[in-house]
Amino acid sequence: MTTKAIACGRTAWRSLHYFAKRKKCQPIVYRCFWCSIRQSQKTEERIGDGRITHFGFETISEAQKEKKVGAVFSSVASSYDTMNDLMSLGIHRIWKDHFVRSLNPGSTSGKGWNILDVAGGTGDIAFRMLDHATQVNGDHSTKVTIADINPDMLAEGKKRALASKYADTGRLHFVLGNAESMPSMPSDSVDLYTVAFGIRNFTNKDAALREAFRVLRPGGVFACLEFSHVNSTLFNAVYKRWSFGAIPLIGQLVAGDRDSYQYLVESIERFPAQEEFRAMIGDAGFLVPGLGYENLSGGIASIHRGIKPL
Ligand SMILES: C[S@@+](CC[C@H](N)C(=O)[O-])C[C@H]1O[C@@H](n2cnc3c(N)ncnc32)[C@H](O)[C@@H]1O
Repeated sequence: MTTKAIACGRTAWRSLHYFAKRKKCQPIVYRCFWCSIRQSQKTEERIGDGRITHFGFETISEAQKEKKVGAVFSSVASSYDTMNDLMSLGIHRIWKDHFVRSLNPGSTSGKGWNILDVAGGTGDIAFRMLDHATQVNGDHSTKVTIADINPDMLAEGKKRALASKYADTGRLHFVLGNAESMPSMPSDSVDLYTVAFGIRNFTNKDAALREAFRVLRPGGVFACLEFSHVNSTLFNAVYKRWSFGAIPLIGQLVAGDRDSYQYLVESIERFPAQEEFRAMIGDAGFLVPGLGYENLSGGIASIHRGIKPL
């Protein structure tokens, strides 16, 4: 059994609640969205001898998480880009463009940047980085290494790279690996470390932040684009309705995979809010400039930054 599933306490209000069938819980029950969150926050179980973590709203052992996240991204890899467009109504493209523009990758001095895009998946950020460095800064030397734990996502990225103008330029590299430990990446070697919509899936986010700190050169920048938390109560209610109501349904209709998309929305809900994540970045050793984050679309997503001290 993975987590104690409880019946929603607000029985009288059931018809007003959004119910989700928790297929993987025993016994099978229906829980409303709000009660699911409350229960998952209260759970303090240990499973076997292992430490616990979360897979969406499910409580599982850390040992299980990597496998389950791997299964999600293997399942969504071939439909990943289409689904991103449908789920975000195309807005993820605007966020990614803004993310890259705000980092202004590439140098005008001719010495290209060494960029590491972790959880780089199908290469959405990497291609934008190279486009920006080349077109805006006239920099043809900047290189991007795409690291991802999932071979199926990397395979999609490689396919796109082969069809792009960067095929055979030596400016794109693909590395299969876990963000929490990247022994193939030398310390103090990276100018810019990016992670977009990846870190909420990591089992040990603190370990990944420490690894980012290790690989960055002093003065190097850590930048994270991730789903975050909406501040406005009214907007939050509308947004939750959309994400928990529509996204799993779109996943089912378009990709034939409701469960993976249910996980994606649950993992967003569980990800730390802006201030908490900012503190985690600071705890890893980074200097966090100013507020430390920029909200996008009212906080649906946010960009966090940290600088490795000189
Ligand atoms: C939602 S996709 C984001 C892909 C891409 N960055 C984008 O913005 O479109 C999340 C990616 O994180 C990867 N991932 C999950 N856990 C990881 C880990 N521990 N280390 C490296 N990559 C991981 C998944 O395989 C997947 O490709």
